[in-house]
Amino acid sequence: MLEKNKVYDAEITGLTSEGSGVCRVQEMAVFVPGTAVGDVIRVKIVKVLSRYAFGIVDEIIMPSPDRCGERERSCGIHKKCGGCVFRHISYEAECRAKNDIVRDAFTRIGGLDPEFGEFMGADEPDRYRNKVQMPVAEIDGKKVFGFYAPRSHRVVPVEKCMLQPGLFDDIINFIFHHVQMEAVSIYDEKTGYGLLRHIYIRQGHHSGEVMVCFVVTAKKGVGMPNLKNLIRSLCDRFKEIKSVVFNINPRNTNVILGDECVTFFGSDTITDTMCGNEIEISPLSFYQINTSQAERLYRKALEYADPQPDDVLVDLYCGAGTIGLSMAHRVKRLVGIEIVPSAVENARRNAARNSISNAEFYCGDAGEIFGSLALSPDIIVVDPPRKGCSEETLNNIISSSPRKIIMISCNPSTAARDAAFLSENGFSADKVCGADFFPGTRHVECVVLLTRND
Ligand SMILES: C[S@@+](CC[C@H](N)C(=O)[O-])C[C@H]1O[C@@H](n2cnc3c(N)ncnc32)[C@H](O)[C@@H]1O
Repeated sequence: MLEKNKVYDAEITGLTSEGSGVCRVQEMAVFVPGTAVGDVIRVKIVKVLSRYAFGIVDEIIMPSPDRCGERERSCGIHKKCGGCVFRHISYEAECRAKNDIVRDAFTRIGGLDPEFGEFMGADEPDRYRNKVQMPVAEIDGKKVFGFYAPRSHRVVPVEKCMLQPGLFDDIINFIFHHVQMEAVSIYDEKTGYGLLRHIYIRQGHHSGEVMVCFVVTAKKGVGMPNLKNLIRSLCDRFKEIKSVVFNINPRNTNVILGDECVTFFGSDTITDTMCGNEIEISPLSFYQINTSQAERLYRKALEYADPQPDDVLVDLYCGAGTIGLSMAHRVKRLVGIEIVPSAVENARRNAARNSISNAEFYCGDAGEIFGSLALSPDIIVVDPPRKGCSEETLNNIISSSPRKIIMISCNPSTAARDAAFLSENGFSADKVCGADFFPGTRHVECVVLLTRND
């Protein structure tokens, strides 16, 4: 029987979808974060449950060849902020692990047997994010900007993050410096008092245009005039900034953004190019955070879809319309459905600014609206949030009987679950391809081709 606080020798033989190493000690699986396949370690057991246990590295007896000291040393905070669970191994080893995570999800969770395409690793495993959201907090009277430590609301101070452009580091450090100098009150989660909650920055990957969004509790508040002065200096210093927005979030909640945005400087949106289309994006609209990898995956989706000139294409959970619009020139009609109103406005304007006249976009719940439109689509593209599709969406997809379904997901487990449901109801999951949109982190994207069984 494994004992808590005791130390055992073991070899790491696999990695979980959370990024933990797995070894077996006395026939029991033990999960050990920060390890690599092939590590021989001395593991200290910290928690024992009935079927598995958790441990921490007490000593690395023999390091795995997958370890990469250079990558690990390039960031001083990844062990504290918890964002990069794969920073201690080479990028090649990370892609191998993520490919296994995708395959495992579809074969083991989904019980499916698709053909797996070659995993699409990123050309740029660092500095790829086009967006960052940083909480602001006051700890022992000191203002700090950073990321939440894993499974907590404790802010780990961050001056530089290897996943975001250097420009974001510079903008954040500029704001941080001025917030220290000026009297701007910081939101306190416990009391609900204070003004500034989060800094959120987004940059068009191709356009270079930057939006800075200050998430505040109210339009007026202690330090608002100082914050506005700070923003004026910020825009003078960084000419890439095309838009500064206040997002008002008065609620005592974990949700970062409130529903209301007020533009303080420049335009309400920024633009970027995605798959050759000019795309405008509002602060509340979803936009894939790794543009070049998203473009690669959308090209794979187009290859899987192989649309025909007479096809009706439905794009469910369409955001600002990026995927559907990238295929619109190949079909007769495009119908997109999305729940966030500003994203739907973006999608409509994105169609117009790219002279796409065969596209319509509807605002509301994907399953509900799709059901009410009574369409007979030839192809459905579905790209839901992490939790996957609602039952209503899946049932309405099944009854609309499209020739093909292209499922895109940032969560292979829920994608495999939904693909399994569709394959029990008249479709076959033919192909799956994983893509790394989120190097360093535990997250991985995938695209699935399902075809109707005729
Ligand atoms: C993973 S994003 C995909 C967006 C878009 N396809 C893209 O690639 O940019 C999921 C989208 O689903 C939207 N969404 C979430 N719940 C929804 C629902 N119940 N009905 C419709 N859209 C929803 C989100 O606002 C978000 O835009």
